[in-house]
Amino acid sequence: MKITVIGTGYVGLVVGAGLAHSGNDVICADIDSDKIRRLNEGEIPIHEPGLEPLVADNLASGRLRFTTDVPQAVRESDIIFIAVGTPPDEDGSADLAHVLAVAEQIGRHMTGERIVVTKSTVPVGTARRVREAVEAHAKHPVHVCSNPEFLKEGAAVDDFMKPDRVVLGADDPEAAAVLTELFQPFVRTGNEILVMDVPSAEITKYAANAMLATRISFMNHMAGLCEATGADVDSVRRGLGSDPRIGSSFLFPGVGYGGSCFPKDVKALIRTSRELGIEPHILEGVEAVNEAQKRTLLERVVRRFGTDLSGHVFALWGLSFKPNTDDMREAPALVTIEGLLERGGQVVAHDPVALDEARRILGNRIEYRGTNYDALAGASALLIHTEWHPYRRPDFQRMKSELAQPVIFDGRNLYSPQRMAELGFEYSCIGRPRAR
Ligand SMILES: NC(=O)c1ccc[n+]([C@@H]2O[C@H](COP(=O)([O-])OP(=O)(O)OC[C@H]3O[C@@H](n4cnc5c(N)ncnc54)[C@H](O)[C@@H]3O)[C@@H](O)[C@H]2O)c1
Repeated sequence: MKITVIGTGYVGLVVGAGLAHSGNDVICADIDSDKIRRLNEGEIPIHEPGLEPLVADNLASGRLRFTTDVPQAVRESDIIFIAVGTPPDEDGSADLAHVLAVAEQIGRHMTGERIVVTKSTVPVGTARRVREAVEAHAKHPVHVCSNPEFLKEGAAVDDFMKPDRVVLGADDPEAAAVLTELFQPFVRTGNEILVMDVPSAEITKYAANAMLATRISFMNHMAGLCEATGADVDSVRRGLGSDPRIGSSFLFPGVGYGGSCFPKDVKALIRTSRELGIEPHILEGVEAVNEAQKRTLLERVVRRFGTDLSGHVFALWGLSFKPNTDDMREAPALVTIEGLLERGGQVVAHDPVALDEARRILGNRIEYRGTNYDALAGASALLIHTEWHPYRRPDFQRMKSELAQPVIFDGRNLYSPQRMAELGFEYSCIGRPRAR
């Protein structure tokens, strides 16, 4: 099939490369000319395991092309995916400006009947608005479907190539049949393609992200209770997760959720609910717990070192909002860094892949080191925000000799409190009792 994916970011690039890999002719179009130039030169602008060879293979075979010429891409394809960003607007709602601008462009340039698929995460009712925006300019029929994306950054290629499920919202049976055929190669092991009406597909995406965010905030709340009572959230987590009705995934407490999806999608769902007159009590609680949790390491530092942090250097391990990605959008580490700098502290950071992204966001307000041990030199404490694998079994003696004081604030519960006490560290973690 001839396909265009408009928006070549974390989602569009993976979707385009994945669809090309199953034999389709795919054009990835984006208005960011620098990004397209780099992609055409074989450079992948984001860190995503497995993406580089997938793009290289399909570029070499000619099945995958990159362009800034959106009109031409629209003219050449039968199916057009919209995968542009939907950032939060000032009031928390999803900003649909990019989605609707693309819809209008599709309407102006389509040269025959088209299937348009919203891949971006968009509020219920958006497919209808996309259809209206296309039809305002189109001379040919259009079928607008919803196909929300469930991939996770850090495992995006695997998630797209072997999805748990494909959700297809389609009001037209023929369009549903075409898209079902398109996704068939990805569900050969029996996972389902769930065809439903368009509003249900749109809500399903928000429901999934809001449920996952809820689990995280729920566990962070439990961690607070554990800390206040001397209980161990790790035991609670195991006791809870072994109930098959609950399940064990997504029950780890930490420094709060971040990234480009959960924060904005929870906000957008709150906004949609309010517009519909349905009080979003649960979602407001989820968001409030998360906002507080993102400040937890900073508050611990202030309790330990006081409100004036001048003269103190703090080492940070991990900047990205989770491992295996360089994405720092809404990363909890940014909240800590701003708080430390405001109070006069200095920050020296390490991250296995996000240093370039951190430099882009923070410039020379903090210092960067190429190895995690180098970041520790002379620091009053180490703060851990991201559970990268190389941080899990470090050389503790070396850490102790590098740090000015053996103090660790671990936002990801990587080490045993008992072991850390035996090694002579002052170790603060999330929801587990301190060993003395
Ligand atoms: N990142 C994720 O993990 C993830 C997962 C599932 C769903 N989503 C959703 O997918 C959508 C895209 O997210 P992303 O993380 O890939 O965003 P991104 O910011 O990485 O990429 C968006 C791309 O769209 C391009 N763009 C913007 N306006 C354009 C236009 N008018 N024409 C052509 N290109 C344009 C931008 O230049 C950018 O390259 C969002 O709605 C997001 O919520 C993201």
